[in-house]
Amino acid sequence: MRIDPQEGADESCDAAIGATFPTIDSVADGLRSVGYHATRRLATAVFLALRMNRPLLLEGEPGVGKTELAKALAKMLRRSLVRLQCHDGIEQRQAVYEWNYAAQLLHIRAAEAAGEGGESESAVYDTRYLLRCPLLQALLTPAPGAILLIDEIDRADEPFEAFVLEYLGEYQVTIPELGTIRAEVSPITILTGNRTRDLGEAVKRRCLYQWLDHPDAQRELSIILEQVPNTSQALGEQIAAFARRLREGAADGDFHRVPGVAETVEWARALNVLGISELDPDIVAETAGVLFKDPDDLDALTPERAAGLLRASTAFEQ
Ligand SMILES: Nc1ncnc2c1ncn2[C@@H]1O[C@H](COP(=O)(O)OP(=O)(O)OP(=O)(O)O)[C@@H](O)[C@H]1O
Ligand SMILES: [Mg+2]
Repeated sequence: MRIDPQEGADESCDAAIGATFPTIDSVADGLRSVGYHATRRLATAVFLALRMNRPLLLEGEPGVGKTELAKALAKMLRRSLVRLQCHDGIEQRQAVYEWNYAAQLLHIRAAEAAGEGGESESAVYDTRYLLRCPLLQALLTPAPGAILLIDEIDRADEPFEAFVLEYLGEYQVTIPELGTIRAEVSPITILTGNRTRDLGEAVKRRCLYQWLDHPDAQRELSIILEQVPNTSQALGEQIAAFARRLREGAADGDFHRVPGVAETVEWARALNVLGISELDPDIVAETAGVLFKDPDDLDALTPERAAGLLRASTAFEQ
């Protein structure tokens, strides 16, 4: 089976995106309209990735919005999101396709029972029995195409990374029994990593690159207020300022792992459930399990330490 790209399909899709999102600001606004708050630098990277049809590699601390960006992009462009979650030991076949052996066996049995044993062998290698894993699914997504998220690629090993690189170069895969399958429309591809290992230069060369930091206090406040709308402005500011101070403390070696945006949003939710409208040292210490997932960090956030951090949380002071 060979699926050839439609004449000009890629170009026309790019043109459609270009018409709807003609500027970096329009990309930033589009992302904001689906709940994602991007810095100007990230919006620029997304704009270029869309315009230049290049994969975008995002690295950064946990919980800074790498995975969320791909989800937001899918919503913004109204495309389906196809996600390949990488992990230690992931193999090519889990990423591309597998044959549905049980269904193939049933086919053979049925054919034998009907006295058609001879033709069953080629018939079992039919697309009906093909299980489409994410990389194949992304290729076969009809226009306008998919957003392909290759999440946490640093968790896969180097041979797998090399295979992904080959895929990104051609957007095609070969299935020995069926032939080469090429993308009708190249997916818009986002790769993410946490730098658990250095990715190869070749992957970096092929992709546009962005390092995502924790948001500044103002952006974090906007995210909190949007995701937990019954949070008051004052409490939102306290949470965002406190999170920023915690992260600065981590740079001084006070904590092992500081909270990402996911945790601060969850903290706002928890404080709402508890009916709390203002942070104080005891409340911070009592609810620290929402922010920290490390026993040493939990122990370190005593009421006294929390009091010091609250005093030093000055991000929104005039
Ligand atoms: N810029 C942002 N705009 C809106 N929401 C955000 C943003 N950044 C983070 N979030 C929120 O934080 C949560 C965690 O983000 P996400 O899962 O994308 O982190 P990540 O960088 O992929 O982390 P990890 O490395 O642990 O996978 C999201 O579900 C979202 O609610
Ligand atoms: Mg993620």
